[in-house]
Formats: sequence, C-alpha cells, structure tokens
Amino acid sequence: MEKIIDENKQGDSLVLDQKKDNQRKLYIESYGCQMNFSDSEIVASILAKEGFNTTQQMEEADLVLVNTCSIREKAEQTVRKRLEHFNAVKRINPKMKVGVLGCMAERLKSKFLEEEKIVDMVVGPDAYKDLPNLVAEIDEGRDAVNVILSKEETYGDVAPVRLNSNGVSAFVSITRGCDNMCTFCVVPFTRGRERSRDPQSIIEEIGDLWNRGFKEVTLLGQNVDSYLWYGGGLKKDFEKASEMQKATAVNFAGLLDMAATAFPKMRFRFSTSNPQDMTLDVIEAMAKHKNICKYIHLPVQSGSNRILKAMNRLHTREEYFELIDNIRRILPECAISQDMIAGFPTETEEDHQDTLSLMEYVKYDFGFMFAYSERPGTLAARKLEDDVPEDIKKRRLTEIINMQQKHSLYRTQQHLGKVEEVLIEGPSKKSDAHWMGRNTQNTVVVFPKEHYKVGEFVNVKINDCTSATLLGEAVGYSENNA
Ligand code: SAH
Ligand code: F3S
Repeated sequence: MEKIIDENKQGDSLVLDQKKDNQRKLYIESYGCQMNFSDSEIVASILAKEGFNTTQQMEEADLVLVNTCSIREKAEQTVRKRLEHFNAVKRINPKMKVGVLGCMAERLKSKFLEEEKIVDMVVGPDAYKDLPNLVAEIDEGRDAVNVILSKEETYGDVAPVRLNSNGVSAFVSITRGCDNMCTFCVVPFTRGRERSRDPQSIIEEIGDLWNRGFKEVTLLGQNVDSYLWYGGGLKKDFEKASEMQKATAVNFAGLLDMAATAFPKMRFRFSTSNPQDMTLDVIEAMAKHKNICKYIHLPVQSGSNRILKAMNRLHTREEYFELIDNIRRILPECAISQDMIAGFPTETEEDHQDTLSLMEYVKYDFGFMFAYSERPGTLAARKLEDDVPEDIKKRRLTEIINMQQKHSLYRTQQHLGKVEEVLIEGPSKKSDAHWMGRNTQNTVVVFPKEHYKVGEFVNVKINDCTSATLLGEAVGYSENNA
C-alpha cells in the first residue's frame, strides 16, 4: 500500500496532497476461491489511487467491501449473515458505505440493492476499474451498480496491493472466466467467458514479487491448462486469429516454462487444472523444472461416466485414469488432489460406488468435497430435478470424506523418514516454537524454529504425521536457499 502511494507522490504531488487531506479507510473482506482473494488485492490497488488506505477495523472504515462467492447456497448465506453484521456496525459508524463485489454481485445485480438495504454499491468481477466512478456516485448519495462482463478485462496492468500477505507466497492471475459450462456450476455466468492475460505482464508481476522477497507464486485461473495468449481476445475466438498470431501463441506449458526459466529460484504452483484440458506438455514442463511444485489439483467431481456426462465434464473415467497414469509415470513424486460433488441429480448408489472406487484407484493426497447445491440459472437447475434426498447426499458425502481421510493418512505416511525441502511461511498455528511451511507436494510441514527464518528454504527430516500434517526437524538449509 505505502509503495503505491509513494509512487503517486513522485508522479503527481498535487493530486496526492489533495488526497492526503481526503484520506479514507477501506475495509475489505473476501470469501470463496483464491481468485476472489487475488481480486481483492486488485481492488485495494485501484482504490489506493483514490486515497483509500486499508484497515483491519470495520468500525473505522469509510468503505466496507465484501467480495462474495456464489458457488454453493451456503456461501451466499454466509455473505447474507455478514451483511446483517455490517448493519449492526453501521449503527456505530454511520458514515460507512457498503459495496458488494464478486460472483453474488454479478448473479443478483441490482436486485441486491432491493433485497439488502445496507448495500450501496454492486460491482461485478470485470467492473473493478470502474470503482472510482462508482464510489463517486455513492459519495453523492446515489446507489451504484456495474455488473458488465468483459471480453478483454484481465487487470493485467494493475499492480495488486498484497493484503494479509505473509511476504513469502502470492497469487498471480493468468486467466479469467471459464468456457467449460459444467452443468452444476455458476462460474461461467458470474465470471464470463475465458480470456488469458499477456505473458509479459505476468512475468513483470512475478519479477516485482521476486524483488520484494517473495519466494512462491501460485498461478491462478478457473482452468489454467486452457491458458492461451495470442495477442488478446477470448479463448473461443482463437480460431479466427491470424496465422501470425497462431504461430506465436503461448499456451500454459509455454507460460510455465517461461516463468520457471526466468525465475529459477522462485517456486511455482498453479490452480486449477481441469482434466479435459490438461495436456502432457504441462506434465513435462513440471518434470523439466525443479522449481515447479509437484502438486496438481485435478477436480473430477464424480467417478461415474453417466454422471460425468450429465455434468458436462468432457472426459470419461477411463480418460481420467489415463491422465493419472501419465502423471504417475512422468512425475512419480507428484501429489494429486480432488474436488468431489456428492448427490448430483439422478446419482444412484452404483454411481456413488464408482466415485469411491475411482478414489481407491487414485488415492488422492487431499480433497475438497461438497454436497450438490442447486444453483439458479445453471443447466442442471433448469433441466434436472435436485432429486437425491438431503440425508442420502450427506451420507454419501461422509463416505467420500472418510475415504479421503484414510488416503490422506496413507499419503502423509509415505513421507516418513524422508528429508524434504520446505519453504517457511510463518509460525505454526498450534505452537509459537514451531515454523509452518509446505513441501513441494503442498503438504503442511511443522518443525522447531531454531535459527531459521520466514521465507527460507530448509531441509526437514520427517519424523511423524497426521492425515493433514507432517512433523519433523530441520537438518540444514536447502540448496535453493539464496
Ligand atoms: N475451476 C474452478 C472450480 C470452481 S468451483 C477452480 O478454479 O477451482 C470449485 C469446486 O466447487 C468445484 O470443483 C466443485 O467441486 C464445487 N462446486 C461447484 N459448483 C457446485 C455446486 N453447484 N454444488 C456443489 N459443489 C459445487
Ligand atoms: Fe465451473 Fe467447470 Fe469451469 S467447475 S469454473 S464450469 S471447469
């Protein structure tokens, strides 16, 4: 934050002086996916230029923003509850204005203003550059809405303000939107069509992070493997590009290679991979570069071919196994995680058993598991009845979670006795005497602090584990420690 204001000072001191008199406080809260957290950093940057400083105290804020998630009904209920709380705070802080950002803003649009009296401003995920105008509107006492989805907007030219940062790991967005139209998913409606960001601006952002001491970058997109830069424009319009544009296009494997080569001591992660879009060249780029972490988040949602088809996941169970086999062959150390949905419409006991047997085959390291939640406007909501009773959904979800728990423990046990490189992120939540970091597989490792510091790469001997955490002791710096 200071940095950006300092830059303003150099560039245009008059503007800054005006804004200094007019310093205002911004409180911002984020829900949902990593992309939302990353977007909030873009929003903080855009508003910093308008004289807003971020604060952790809602009670003193002039502007309170909530970056919302629509992925499941429960996520929306959480936000509604927060708005009730904002209402209570407004009684002691009457100057406070409230804006809703993100997927709920896009889904509900101006309906939000009618439904929630506390809300002054509704801003969709592609409209954040309009925030200065929208804030001016609400300053004048008018409600403000902008939920226009864009074909171009990637925020490639905005340098994010790192919020709640540990100074070690950061997110960098590389694509926005999604074209996959999974029938259960609201994202294509709230985040629009898929477009990729200019690799040059991605490399510059990573360079800036490196210069500021960051050691790990997670490249973000709803579907990173689908990344394709051909000079701008939507992914779906690639076919219409010129021969020249096609010949010089950069795909995800190319981007990974560029980033890992340019910053050999920076660790890279990426999320999320969609099985139908993940190609062998991405796995090979991971094998080629030591600094690309050996971890793939590879949601499958179901193990049943019939359900995969109804979900419009454009691959079969067999094709998924083929991909898993390729990953295991090329990257034997690679961790794999899943997202799973229990109780999609028409799911039978047999379909559910297919999910469990798929899990048994893969033995995932981690998982994010959900009961199906019908989302208004999606194809599934329009065409399929939400017909799996709640108690059955819950029971199937529990069986999936229990199986994942068993596999997670099996996977963490495979690390026992090994020495693994860990990047220290900060103090362990449970003990002040211990550091917490992650190995390449993204498993959390906890060990005594000794003389080591945050941001250092340390070799840790793994002595013990739970299903979620490895416990060990440092045996020295790793060779990656600059
Ligand atoms: N590609 C995205 C996926 C976003 S949604 C990404 O970057 O992660 C994250 C997960 O939420 C999905 O993989 C799916 O398992 C779950 N999900 C999405 N819509 C859902 C719904 N309607 N009900 C239950 N779970 C859902
Ligand atoms: Fe959603 Fe499927 Fe895209 S889960 S974000 S539509 S890959």
